[in-house]
Amino acid sequence: MTSTVGIDALGVAVPSTCVRLEDLAVARNVEPAKFLQGLGTRVMGVALPDEDTVTLAARAAHEALQSAGVRGDEVGLLAVGTETAVDHSKPVASYVQGLVGIGSNCRVFETKHACYGGTAALQLALDWIRSGSARGRKALVICSDIARYGVGTPGEPTQGAGAVAILLGEAPRLVALEPGVSGVYSQDVHDFWRPLYSKDALVDGHYSVKCYLDALEGAWRNYRELVAEVPPAGSFFSDRFAALAYHVPYGKLARKGHQRLRELDGDPTPDTSFARLVEPGLVLPSLVGNIYTGSLYLSLTSLLACHPGSLEGQRVGLFSYGSGSCAEFFGGTVQPGAHARVRALGLMERLEARRVLGIPEYEAIMRERELIDERPAGAATETGAFGYLGVEQERRTYARRGAA
Ligand code: COA
Repeated sequence: MTSTVGIDALGVAVPSTCVRLEDLAVARNVEPAKFLQGLGTRVMGVALPDEDTVTLAARAAHEALQSAGVRGDEVGLLAVGTETAVDHSKPVASYVQGLVGIGSNCRVFETKHACYGGTAALQLALDWIRSGSARGRKALVICSDIARYGVGTPGEPTQGAGAVAILLGEAPRLVALEPGVSGVYSQDVHDFWRPLYSKDALVDGHYSVKCYLDALEGAWRNYRELVAEVPPAGSFFSDRFAALAYHVPYGKLARKGHQRLRELDGDPTPDTSFARLVEPGLVLPSLVGNIYTGSLYLSLTSLLACHPGSLEGQRVGLFSYGSGSCAEFFGGTVQPGAHARVRALGLMERLEARRVLGIPEYEAIMRERELIDERPAGAATETGAFGYLGVEQERRTYARRGAA
């Protein structure tokens, strides 16, 4: 049995194009403050037609491996959590295996439970390492999604696209995750779903907010029971954390979640700790939008990249939620040097370099994306590394890194 297991490296992929929520509000005849303050999102990533869940996952995976200096044959478990898969049978993870060069002596699979799918993979990968079955090998868990509700729907301003790759192993260099104490809560509810016939998600929006908050309460109560710690006089239980990362479909929901959590702790002013504990984790999500499975881990990345102080040596809490529903609250300790390692990814610079789309161009891309699963290979004029090329003989094809 091993004791210190957790996140050794992170990789993040976002599309090179985006829409400003201010522009979207004007086009939809909505007060911009509703999207900017009411939802707490400023920009959402928009995937071009040569990008899909596979290409985002491959780019994030490549970055995590590069950042850690780990070779593909050192990975013994490769899982992709996604709710926007590209095939009913072949997992996104198999495409990623081929594209980034993961060895053959590796378990490769996909997990699904709405936005919780990545956390499900992460938890079982951690147990695989802790059990000793990994024999020193790493696990690579990738959360990759393109969040799509459709043009003109209430969910439209809560779209986005992106992937976060999480390399897990012993003696982790970013966050050591607490073993054995994880608060879980699940229910059979219909708050968000995507029938097999639809490319767009269906959502009972206001009900989904209630389900998120109920699940947070359930997972938090379960976590508190397991930790069974009495907070020092004058502080609240959640003060055992120096920062908290929530699942962030949009920033306002993380704020509501934090208020609920502090109320449960008995805090009479539940919003006052928001800026200290949560806000640094919302910087990147507010510039990318909802990335479903990766949202929580983008918030964790944001804490490590954008926190004004240092979290090193301190505990962070993570709340994962997937509609349907399953939720989990767990924690870990930030390792020395973690901030510098994550800042070296240059995420803010990459976000600033994105091309801002006008609304008509964004709408045209949304229409074109409707057809990409049937597009013949060769129709795409321009692709980046790992770009999606189209379908040839019923098979999806991709450009490999370095290929012409
Ligand atoms: N200035 C500032 N805030 C404003 C505003 C203005 N001019 N106009 C509205 N708002 C606020 C509202 O008060 C509300 O905040 P509150 O929840 O704190 O009261 C917020 O903006 C959203 O307004 P609302 O009327 O609830 O928006 P909506 O009916 O269009 O729906 C969602 C919002 C999130 C339900 C919708 O975007 C959705 O369905 N998204 C997808 C589902 C989702 O992400 N669910 C998360 C669970 S996983």
